[in-house]
Amino acid sequence: MSQYLLINKVFSEKPVDQVIIIRGWIKSLRQSKKFSFMVINDGTTQKDLQVIVDATLSDYETISKLGLGSSVEIEGLLVASQGKQPVEMQAKRVHVYCANGEDYPLQKKETSLEYLREIAHFRSRTNTFSAVFRLRHVLAQATHEFFSKESFAYLHTPIITASDAEGAGEMFRISTLPLDKLPKDDKGKIDFKQDYFGRETFLSVSGQLEAETFAVGGLGRVYTFGPTFRSENSNTARHLSEFWMVEPEAAFFTLEDNAKLASEYVKFLIKKSIENCGDELEFLSSRYAPENLKTLEHVMNSPFETVTYTNAIEILTEVSKKHKFEFPVSWGMDLQTEHERFLAEEYFNRPTIVTDYPKDIKAFYMKQNDDGKTVRAMDVLVPGVGELIGGSQREDNYDKLVKRMEEMKMDTQTYWWYLDLRKYGSVPHSGFGLGFERAVMYISGMSNIRDVIPYPRTPKNAEF
Ligand code: 4AD
Ligand code: MG
Repeated sequence: MSQYLLINKVFSEKPVDQVIIIRGWIKSLRQSKKFSFMVINDGTTQKDLQVIVDATLSDYETISKLGLGSSVEIEGLLVASQGKQPVEMQAKRVHVYCANGEDYPLQKKETSLEYLREIAHFRSRTNTFSAVFRLRHVLAQATHEFFSKESFAYLHTPIITASDAEGAGEMFRISTLPLDKLPKDDKGKIDFKQDYFGRETFLSVSGQLEAETFAVGGLGRVYTFGPTFRSENSNTARHLSEFWMVEPEAAFFTLEDNAKLASEYVKFLIKKSIENCGDELEFLSSRYAPENLKTLEHVMNSPFETVTYTNAIEILTEVSKKHKFEFPVSWGMDLQTEHERFLAEEYFNRPTIVTDYPKDIKAFYMKQNDDGKTVRAMDVLVPGVGELIGGSQREDNYDKLVKRMEEMKMDTQTYWWYLDLRKYGSVPHSGFGLGFERAVMYISGMSNIRDVIPYPRTPKNAEF
């Protein structure tokens, strides 16, 4: 019996002059009188294997008429080739697992990204999506490698929570109460004491608060990497209702340490992508973002720009005299995607770290500056995407934090354990959150976030 090889191994080991077995799906089939050219891929590599099927083979009639996406096992001789790939196969035996007909939804002519979203269960069979998802895998592996190397421990923070980490009120409720017969308390309000957890609970928007409890006093440095959920009703190309976030948190970190870690992490992601997904990046670049690969190589070797929010507003105000923004610029506003992209893409033309935002547009936990107006926040903006990372140094002073939470009308009781960190062994500490899908977008050059997660969850959309 010949040896079965994955197609990535066929190309890395190149066992020329040996008879081997491959298994996969037909990418294309070109028929002539004497033989057919079959292009096979099994998903382990961007490279396709070309197989020559001679007309003398038994079943040639059937084989030469197989539709796209049909699944096959082929035993054949591997030979050196002058073609696109260095080796090709001469088939000796073809076994068909499942023959597709013309009703197979994934035909060559209909492959717009919009159309593929409607048949998302098939889209990993295209060159584009298999490339994106091999890249996504490499980015996930690189994330663990990077933080591990920097002495961060991987922490699994809870998905069900009672606290709104971002204070934005964009949480999905978790409840087993009967929707048609909600129990009421004596004030006529819904009685959540009767709910599953005996209180109101939600899907987490961020693992940060729990990560902080492990970073301060426990493990020193931790990172989370898990799904987060936000019910913000924004149907944009950069927002998902369910997305994955990487959140490192480190004791004794200032905002400057935090920014350094963030830029090193992003550069590491780029480096590992180029090392391990060169074919994928070349393919995606050629198809969707011609300059992307070149730009990434440049970013990997140059420093990120750093600018304060106040400076950024000055720049944008000056620029808006000539350049028309949809949202007018003024100090105190939250930067809109158009402003973020302008800064990163046109003005600085590289990833840009904006620091010290007004406290009123940022979360309660950020460390307050002495000016009484700004906080030690940082956003990392990248070309093509806008905000890739949001983070901050955390307020470690108990009184200041409680005062801020009260100003923001938060229920401090829910956060008693979070506040405890500021009472016992409190230290300066910082962290950030990287939107994992936005990182995949940035590095792949794909322009819609729905195309870098297997099954996107967005408002009014939870198919598959
Ligand atoms: O800026 P955000 O809201 O920060 C936090 O959640 C902090 N708790 C992080 C921390 O300091 N540990 O979100 C962080 C990142 C954003 O920069 C963005 O890349 C991504 O998460 N993000 C989203 N990605 C996809 N869809 C959404 N709806 C997103 N909301 C945020
Ligand atoms: Mg943010």
